[in-house]
Formats: sequence, C-alpha cells, structure tokens
Amino acid sequence: MPAEKITINFTVNGAAHSARVYPMARLLDVLRAELRLTGTKEGCGEGECGACSVLLDGALVNSCLVPVAQVAHANITTIEGVADGEQLHAVQQAFIECGGAQCGICTPGMVLAAVALLAEHPQPTLDEMRNGLAGNLCRCTGYMKIFESVVRACQQSRTADCQSAGSLDAADIGRDCQHSGLGLN
Ligand code: FES
Ligand code: FES
Repeated sequence: MPAEKITINFTVNGAAHSARVYPMARLLDVLRAELRLTGTKEGCGEGECGACSVLLDGALVNSCLVPVAQVAHANITTIEGVADGEQLHAVQQAFIECGGAQCGICTPGMVLAAVALLAEHPQPTLDEMRNGLAGNLCRCTGYMKIFESVVRACQQSRTADCQSAGSLDAADIGRDCQHSGLGLN
C-alpha cells in the first residue's frame, strides 16, 4: 500500500465526507473505521458473501473489494441510510415481521440487495428475487424467511404495485426453492 494518503471527497447517506486515506484502502474499512458506520459487516473479505454490501451510485457492490479511491465524488448508501429518519424502509420492516434475521451479520447486505432489487424491479418475479439476492450468503435463516421478507416488502411497498410477488405465498416460494439449485431450504 502506498505511503501517501490522499483526500477523498464523497457522499455517504446524503452527507458530504472528506477523508484522508490510502487510495487502496478498502471502502469497507473506511466506512467502519473512519466514518464509524459499523452497520456494514465483514464476512469473507473476499467478495463472496455480500455481508459488506453497500450501494455505490445506486449499484450494489461488495465494499470489501472497492478501493476507496474509486468512490471519489460518488454517492454511497449504507444500511444506516436506508431508513427515512424514524421510518423504517419497507424492506427493514418486512425483515422484522417475517423473521428474516437471526444473528444479523448478513442482514444489512440482504436489506441493501433487496432495496436495489426493488428499485430496479418494482414488480420482481421469483427468479429476479433469487438473482437479486444471489450474492448474499446467510448461515442462519436458511433463506426462506429472507425470501418471505422480500415478498412482504414488495407487497407492502408504498411506491410499488407488485403484482407478481403479491401473487406468491410462502408455500409457493418453499416449493420453488426446494426445487432450485441454490441450496435454499
Ligand atoms: S465481506 Fe465482502 S463479500 Fe464477504
Ligand atoms: S442471519 Fe446470521 S448470517 Fe444471516
């Protein structure tokens, strides 16, 4: 890592930040250690688990793989920026109602993946939901409750009229997941 630190200006959760950092420092570390935004978690540190997911200019990225130099002048959303003040995002509320979290390590990444999914596909099909969450691993819930949470969020979204997910129920999802090759149970 070069000895020279540089100044990076970027926006996180709507607030402007200026950080003195090594250019190849991981965005994950800058968020957690410099900005004290510890909602973003580290699992594998190798781009495999999605625990460190954040939105970078609206796109879901693994922050453990992003050199901070790449986020100059970018807009980043972490789990701390998903709620609207005291009002939880529909995805967060659904995770609570459907038991989509146990230990919670994967939850920030799952929530951001679902937020990104619903932004791109307000009426996601089951395949779109599966693909949207595919890069995020959970060691606790077995994925069913996470899928149910995303379906619930879609059904209850104030901005989306989600016909396709709204027609699914837990039994439909369970049957489909049992026959999928993604290890859902
Ligand atoms: S910690 Fe970044 S993908 Fe696992
Ligand atoms: S809730 Fe523990 S890893 Fe997903």
